[in-house]
Amino acid sequence: MTRLVVVGSINMDLVTVSPRFPAPGETLLGERFVSLHGGKGGNQAVAAARLGAQVHMVGAVGDDAFGQPLRDALAAEDIDVEHVARIDDCSSGTASITVAGGENQIIVTPGANARVTPAQVEDAREAIARADAVLVQMEIPLETVEATLRIGHALHVPVILNPAPAQRLPSEWLQLARYITPNQHELATLLDADASEDFRTLMRRSPCPVVLTRGAEGAWFREEGEAQHQEGFNVEAVDSTGAGDTFNAALAVFLHEGLPIAVRKACAAAALSVTRLGARGGMPHPAEVDALLARQRG
Ligand code: RIB
Repeated sequence: MTRLVVVGSINMDLVTVSPRFPAPGETLLGERFVSLHGGKGGNQAVAAARLGAQVHMVGAVGDDAFGQPLRDALAAEDIDVEHVARIDDCSSGTASITVAGGENQIIVTPGANARVTPAQVEDAREAIARADAVLVQMEIPLETVEATLRIGHALHVPVILNPAPAQRLPSEWLQLARYITPNQHELATLLDADASEDFRTLMRRSPCPVVLTRGAEGAWFREEGEAQHQEGFNVEAVDSTGAGDTFNAALAVFLHEGLPIAVRKACAAAALSVTRLGARGGMPHPAEVDALLARQRG
């Protein structure tokens, strides 16, 4: 069984389904509202657990009404929450999400996620040492991202850095990651490059290997120096929230099968994740991934 540590954010997603996105200053009547468990870290932990990994989460929730249910939801997926802190006098992270026509717009308010410390990652050192890989994203303080990269590197445990939401990072940090998994826009931001530059050129300029996600068009990666393309899978999209998280989780879970297979399975898992509402609604179990792979082959 693959063992993973996920260091990242935990949010309550406040989701409004709308006929379209409002223009600035416009008020629209929504079709439906739901509050759902989310956050890039929590989502990646849940997606990996559903795909069969043993997952240990490092993060934080607040002492508000959302905090305990968010932590309990992770534990209910058999995720080890020993290193999920509860911060006093602090709100939990929230994401105000509008879904329209299968696309989304998101505003994240970090709350307790801004209080995830390097010391918490240090406390999880034993779990990291036992792990096959570590997943980290950027909805937590950058110093904590850096600590995760440094500890993983020191312990020879591959760290997959999902640079979302993107910010420029020191090249030295990027060299500590085994893979970074940006989309084209995030890669340009990360490297302080022009977003219109060809993504293959940007991939070559990255100081560490890139697995680049292209939404419905699948993913690009390098194997033995050659740029390779994995096509996306055809599905009916209901809500794209959490597709990137499912991709990252599956990549980490299946990495031991080799990068091309892991990317193929990650694209299939991400496609399945968009077929239901909510970041975690469509996150698949291995049998569903296998069925989609078999359908696409045949
Ligand atoms: O990647 C999707 C996630 O981003 C949502 O669940 C939301 O919480 C934001 O963090």
